Amino acid sequence: IPSYSYQYQGFWYSPITLQGIINCQKYFQPRENDIFLVTSPKSGTTWLKAILFALVNREAHPPQDPHHPLLSKTPHQLVPFLEFLHPSEYDSLCNSSDSSSRIFATHISLGTLPKAITGDSGSLNCKIVYLCRDIKDTFVSLFHFGNNKKTSPISLEDAFNLYCKGISSAGPIWDQILGYWKESQKNQHKVLFMRYEEMKDEPYLQLRRLANFLGIPFSQEEESSGLVDQIISICSFESMTKVDVNKTGTFVDGFNNSSFFRKGVVGDWKNCLTADMASRLDQITEEKFRGSGLSL
Ligand code: A3P
Repeated sequence: IPSYSYQYQGFWYSPITLQGIINCQKYFQPRENDIFLVTSPKSGTTWLKAILFALVNREAHPPQDPHHPLLSKTPHQLVPFLEFLHPSEYDSLCNSSDSSSRIFATHISLGTLPKAITGDSGSLNCKIVYLCRDIKDTFVSLFHFGNNKKTSPISLEDAFNLYCKGISSAGPIWDQILGYWKESQKNQHKVLFMRYEEMKDEPYLQLRRLANFLGIPFSQEEESSGLVDQIISICSFESMTKVDVNKTGTFVDGFNNSSFFRKGVVGDWKNCLTADMASRLDQITEEKFRGSGLSL
């Protein structure tokens, strides 16, 4: 949780993020094959960045290659956040072996994405992969992440109360999720709605779903060669935390690269939240999502 934030078009962003959002609203020009990975902070962005990169580039960079880019670069270097790029970098980004398509990540809410992406009539020009995670786990992960920075520690209670009011990076989280959920229901070919817990539970199935959605399904030969398992393995928490670049160096805003990897499990909220806190978050989630067909 940043020490100060701006509310812009209904959502809270740090000053540096807001500047990047305004830049991309003005200058970003999508290509038809661009892929956007959208998340709320701490929903598993780094993980899915790695998976997307490995999946899209599997021919140029087979996952068992000892020189695979994921072994020498962080997922953030390979798949940057749109809002942290300088406009001059949009076009020079080539992180896909198909040079006509690019992969970006972002935390921007649907209504705030550049109109060049969402289209005037609301018809999306690119594919969006949306990843969400249990709200309690997401909050706990964010709390630890924020306090890692040490410059502006915040108590659990204060962070929790702000979070419940929707005041958190790219929050209110519920509104951000709902925007993409509704779009995924209307527009299944353009928005894929994924869950962290399902990725943990059935990675093979979810990876296949992702490949099909992106129009790059696994061939029979790829399936039988073990390629899918190799992608899952190179992107696993265990593998990624062994990679030197993920253990050292800094990201933007004073965060360490290593702070994007903490436990990587489902249900860690039980070690941090009181029963009251958990039920308050559950209650807000239920109220916000009522009638939408979505439950988390
Ligand atoms: P925890 O703090 O619960 O461990 P983001 O990438 O959106 O910032 O999310 C970070 C969360 O994803 C952290 O959750 C982190 O540990 C987890 N994570 C990072 N890499 C992962 C991986 N390869 N597999 C599963 N979870 C991962």
